Amino acid sequence: YVIGVDLGTSAVKTLLVGQDGSVKAEATREYPLYHDKTGWSEQEPEDWVTGTVESLKELTAKAGVGAEDIEGISFSGQMHGLVLLDENNRPVRRAILWNDTRTTEQCREIEKALGSKLLSVTRNPALEGFTLPKILWVRQYEPQTFEKARVFVLPKDYVRLRLTGNTHMDLSDAAGTLLLDIASKSWSKDVLSAFDLPESFCPPLVEASGYVGTLTVEAAESTGLSGETKVYAGGADNACGAIGAGILSPGVTLCSVGTSGVILTYEVDASADYKGKVHFFNHGKPDGFYAMGVTLGAGYSLSWFRNTFAKGESYDVLLGGIGEIAPGSNGLLFTPYLVGERTPHADSVIRGSFIGMDGSHTRSHFARAVLEGITFSLNESVDLFRKAGKTVDKIVSIGGGAKNPAWLQMQADIFNAEVVALENEQGPGLGAAMLAAFGCGWFPSLEACADKFVKPARSFKPDPEAAERYAVLFRVYQDVYGATKPLN
Ligand code: XUL
Repeated sequence: YVIGVDLGTSAVKTLLVGQDGSVKAEATREYPLYHDKTGWSEQEPEDWVTGTVESLKELTAKAGVGAEDIEGISFSGQMHGLVLLDENNRPVRRAILWNDTRTTEQCREIEKALGSKLLSVTRNPALEGFTLPKILWVRQYEPQTFEKARVFVLPKDYVRLRLTGNTHMDLSDAAGTLLLDIASKSWSKDVLSAFDLPESFCPPLVEASGYVGTLTVEAAESTGLSGETKVYAGGADNACGAIGAGILSPGVTLCSVGTSGVILTYEVDASADYKGKVHFFNHGKPDGFYAMGVTLGAGYSLSWFRNTFAKGESYDVLLGGIGEIAPGSNGLLFTPYLVGERTPHADSVIRGSFIGMDGSHTRSHFARAVLEGITFSLNESVDLFRKAGKTVDKIVSIGGGAKNPAWLQMQADIFNAEVVALENEQGPGLGAAMLAAFGCGWFPSLEACADKFVKPARSFKPDPEAAERYAVLFRVYQDVYGATKPLN
């Protein structure tokens, strides 16, 4: 067996996976988010460690397999979050997360200092969610705290450090820091020197499937695992989502809905030039890359809607009636800009909206409109890829968007592409388990592992009439951004 740990934004999920790719057991622990000020989003790194250890303990207890039968473990992690560590590898403050938007001023500073190197070296624009702006923010506003920091890591790297005692960062996650030279896969001396940061501030780099050690005695004891369990670095959640959905070559696109949502396409090398309009990162597959567009408020919009208007109700009940409502929610339109947006509008302060209400609308219309708005936002990324010359005709859908058949059909209609759902889909956690399976030598390649582990279950084809209706509404949706910009 191998274990995949998916360290998400709202919870950590662990999966025990057998050699045939079947999930033998799973366990989850939630942890809090702290929003002390508008735009702030933080977590306590200790909560991730406690959650992971407890979840692993539950997993090993209920799996009914011997600890020595669990060969390897790897990780998927929420991206970009800054964890600053002191000389004893202790966090000097809470982690500042990917969905924190306090760093607009630092982004402008980065653009000014790096000029054209920003895109040519890091291959990405300076966005509030990325890590370097967060480092500069702490240095500027909390100098005494920053003074204690010796090295920075990302969320899953911190959990892995606590389990193994070793500090590493994998390339797919390092790609989201704005400190990595994406093409040469090394920390960029240019960027480090532009901000007067020593190279020792960055941890050693490894591939996502790279071996990084075994568990410490304490970690083995507290989790119920064997001290011999081999640990593999793991990757960014979006890279692991891609691996877990078999996106390991060009041709098939990924739609993943977690707290945020992404549309992701595989890139064989670093030559594609999207002019910074989408993110461009290293893949978890050695030598691969991917481009992706991000909707910040994807699953977040739906959970906000439920918490605000249907607290305590299950998603099944809340979304139960949406299948009976015709595409377009009878003129009700939602834009999911509740926490700003990334693609195609890098805008941390844009507001979301409901427009087009009339007296006949019920709560089910609003629920359907929320899903349509999230999907329209994702379609902006599909549109961008198509305009850049990519064929997007087959999309594997994972995460929250794949849990509801009405939403899957809606995706096929809005994306105007075939949408495939997987059997017993487990999101990035399966990708993490696949990194461990490949690392352990079960398969000669991640592709061979995907052949066995990734099982397409259902396909949704666009309905021509619905697709046509959505094409009209999508143009209205695209106009709402400009019209609502003055609202913030
Ligand atoms: C990607 C991003 C999010 C997080 C979610 O750039 O910020 O998708 O990875 O965990």
